[in-house]
Amino acid sequence: MCGIVGYIGDHEASPILLEGLRKLEYRGYDSAGIATFSKGELRYVKAEGKIDTLESRLLKENPIGTIGIGHTRWATHGRPSDENSHPHLCNDCNIAVVHNGIIENYLELKEELEKEGFVFHSETDTEVIVHLLKKYLNGDFEVAFYKAVSRLHGSYALCAITADEPDKILCARKDSPLVVGLGENENFIASDIPAILRHTRKCYILEDGEFAVITKNQIKIKDAEGVIISKKMQEITWNSEAAEKGGYEHFMLKEIYEQPEVFKNTLRGRLKERTVDFPELGISKEDVLNWSKIYIVACGTAYHAGLVGKTIFEKTMKIPVEVDIASEYRYRDPLVDEKTLVIVVSQSGETADTIAALRHSKSKGAKVLAVTNVVGSSISREADYVAYIWAGPEISVASTKAYTTMLITEYLLALYFAGLIGTLSEEEIAGYVEGLRGIPSLAVQVLENPSYKLIAENLKEETDAFYLGRGLDWAVALEGVLKLKEISYIHAEAYAAGELKHGTLALITDGTPVITINTQKSVFDKTISNIQEVRARGAKVIIVAQADDEASHKYAEQMVYIPTMEDFLVPVIAAIPLQLIAYYTAVARGTNVDQPRNLAKSVTVE
Ligand code: M6R
Repeated sequence: MCGIVGYIGDHEASPILLEGLRKLEYRGYDSAGIATFSKGELRYVKAEGKIDTLESRLLKENPIGTIGIGHTRWATHGRPSDENSHPHLCNDCNIAVVHNGIIENYLELKEELEKEGFVFHSETDTEVIVHLLKKYLNGDFEVAFYKAVSRLHGSYALCAITADEPDKILCARKDSPLVVGLGENENFIASDIPAILRHTRKCYILEDGEFAVITKNQIKIKDAEGVIISKKMQEITWNSEAAEKGGYEHFMLKEIYEQPEVFKNTLRGRLKERTVDFPELGISKEDVLNWSKIYIVACGTAYHAGLVGKTIFEKTMKIPVEVDIASEYRYRDPLVDEKTLVIVVSQSGETADTIAALRHSKSKGAKVLAVTNVVGSSISREADYVAYIWAGPEISVASTKAYTTMLITEYLLALYFAGLIGTLSEEEIAGYVEGLRGIPSLAVQVLENPSYKLIAENLKEETDAFYLGRGLDWAVALEGVLKLKEISYIHAEAYAAGELKHGTLALITDGTPVITINTQKSVFDKTISNIQEVRARGAKVIIVAQADDEASHKYAEQMVYIPTMEDFLVPVIAAIPLQLIAYYTAVARGTNVDQPRNLAKSVTVE
């Protein structure tokens, strides 16, 4: 995820910026850069790759100056490269900008600016900002900044400097965090507190729509109309390790709690009033009509996202969908040809088996669509089409926000394709679009439920657990079980609820924990019958149900309610309690939550 640092004071800026950028490394990045003033001129140094590369360039170029802005980039628009890294400069190099977030209307702004003679040097959305600033700069940088920001749609944490007014840094924030740190005869800016914690613990946290004008002795925070706001200063009490985790005990917990915000990123620019759009995809109605089958191929959690995807694509597009584990698919001549769409799902975009499956599919003439998180990853480069899940960097080995954003991306793709070929009516699509729009706030409600720790307390001494469900609930159960196994080391199995009595029921004895997901009305009574079967053998039953379910509680020791919602969209929300149950169980057992034994975040070997 991109990071921002800014400094204005009496000390050399570049070592302070560099140190701040290093503190943001944990967030993941692929390039870095800084800009400072030196003898009235803006100097900048940027480099693809690690901060060490930037540092060695800084040593050579020595950009002196006591004002500066720095950035670590995690590629979204445009691959990782020197040109695409921030800061971005205007054509005469007297304005520099760093930006976190996504400018949704950058293509139309770019077209307008190009017509006016501005020359673009990168593939980024950010570059439009610096040219807009230049366009509007007419003796007052602040006026130009307000005008430029008013043209932007999307999300931003933004810092800009100009050699024309080298005593200030201007900032703005919308949907992307930015804090201003207070020093003595010096002030700081950062997208994340760890970047400036060594210098100050006093800061102002900007809210959406707020601007800041920062000089070395003053911080003015203003609203969208330019009126100065009086803001409460915050005192940061976390240590720097806790600050990296945003105050959470583990990255996994932070990433679970990031989900409502991250969901907005996944939906942004794609959800329209009553439809879904995927302008970046480049898939036409003719392409979709050409497919006779979809194959979804992935590993681990991404494979589980594929299992939910099967129902999503079949229900909306009325097309057969097969799902396969990448390490199996690659070794058994799968039936794919030029009429097959192969969807490879991968958070990292670097999983060896998934890459091999992608290559195998292409060699058979199939088109490959990547659903991935990492811009510039092998999978994103080799696929014919890419749909990014926009989860931001996931640091914990156990995948959480990547899984749920994979699901949201699948819903968006399916609705988009169904709209193109007319397999759903406009009304049906509009209904699901409305449901998806509500997903971030439903996620907030689920995160507020206090029952997970109590369930974890009851699970922590167990050696085995079973998860049951039917249809979409079964797919969610499989992912819930993987979470529990990988971080708590409790042996667990997920079963299609109706399948249990064909063998595994023999393992259910007095006190065996059975977590049942029972959210789908079409199979509700059937699942209740299966719950009765395990209860008759002494199982301790926990049920995940929708809030309007008045029956399930009669059959459960403990209930977990999710908000009442459209059954079809439930997997995104039902996954969250299972993530938290696994998390708190692991914490209660004292395991290494973020780096479980024997596992790696990115599996680049077979
Ligand atoms: O990066 P990918 O999505 O391709 O990774 C696939 C699996 O290795 C991954 O989902 C793994 O199962 C997770 N650790 C599970 O939490």
